[in-house]
Amino acid sequence: MTRSYLVTGAASGIGRATRDLLLERGHRVIGVDLRNADIEVDLTTASGRDDVIGRATELSGGVLDGVVAVAGLSAPIAATVAVNYYGAVATLEGLRPLLAKSDAPRAATVASMTSIGPFDERLLNAIESGTEAEALGRGKELEDSGPEIGYLNYPTSKRALARWLRRQAPTEAWAGAGIPLNAIAPGIVLTPMTEPLMATPEGREQVLQSVPMPLNGPMGPAAPAELLVWLTSEVNTHVTGQVVFIDGGFDAVTRGDSTW
Ligand SMILES: NC(=O)c1ccc[n+]([C@@H]2O[C@H](COP(=O)([O-])OP(=O)(O)OC[C@H]3O[C@@H](n4cnc5c(N)ncnc54)[C@H](O)[C@@H]3O)[C@@H](O)[C@H]2O)c1
Repeated sequence: MTRSYLVTGAASGIGRATRDLLLERGHRVIGVDLRNADIEVDLTTASGRDDVIGRATELSGGVLDGVVAVAGLSAPIAATVAVNYYGAVATLEGLRPLLAKSDAPRAATVASMTSIGPFDERLLNAIESGTEAEALGRGKELEDSGPEIGYLNYPTSKRALARWLRRQAPTEAWAGAGIPLNAIAPGIVLTPMTEPLMATPEGREQVLQSVPMPLNGPMGPAAPAELLVWLTSEVNTHVTGQVVFIDGGFDAVTRGDSTW
């Protein structure tokens, strides 16, 4: 059956592969991105986030079967938190009323294998207990401390997103409305985001040492796209609140038994 989806980050990498796969399977897709998309907006801004909801309501006729929030940045700057956490949450929460009108609604987003690594406690607390302005203020302090510290904006935004969905998925608003809500946590995916890291043999070697992926190594964007498409398909009736690692074994290598 043809379903209607909205995919953010649809112009590149994992979002584009997800969009392409959904179209290939005969579904309708509203793509959202900064450029080259049906809805061109900046998800770091409140007006951009409002526009997504308004334009998606118009373009979809008020009903969506799937929402896949993929757009993200990995730069060592505060804006990474604005798009990765606040942009994704605004997309998922803002479009929930449109999903609630579907017979088989599904939602998914993209965390990261870095969500289980080092993070900034003050930034996480600000995201979870403060305002966006406070969180971005802490993100800017990290940014101003140079790229190594500034990078903490990325794993902290993904940790916060994963924790948000774990808390939201079983609630009345999501599970109670019949909407599975999940994330994937990819290892290294070969997209424009990771291109600079993987451009030289030395860079590649360094990445592979810090992110061991014993099963098949780094992947193309089609692999995470397949998982996102499955999680948001009608056949997913009972997987919810999960952060599914698609990482060639990185999580098993890193956490081993410690998850139980
Ligand atoms: N590539 C990886 O190894 C990897 C690993 C783990 C998680 N991820 C996550 O997967 C998602 C997609 O990453 P990718 O590798 O496909 O990267 P990508 O750079 O190829 O695509 C990201 C897309 O998001 C869009 N985007 C960025 N900021 C935006 C904004 N403010 N408003 C609207 N759109 C915006 C970009 O324009 C781009 O099209 C991200 O959330 C990323 O953090 C990627």
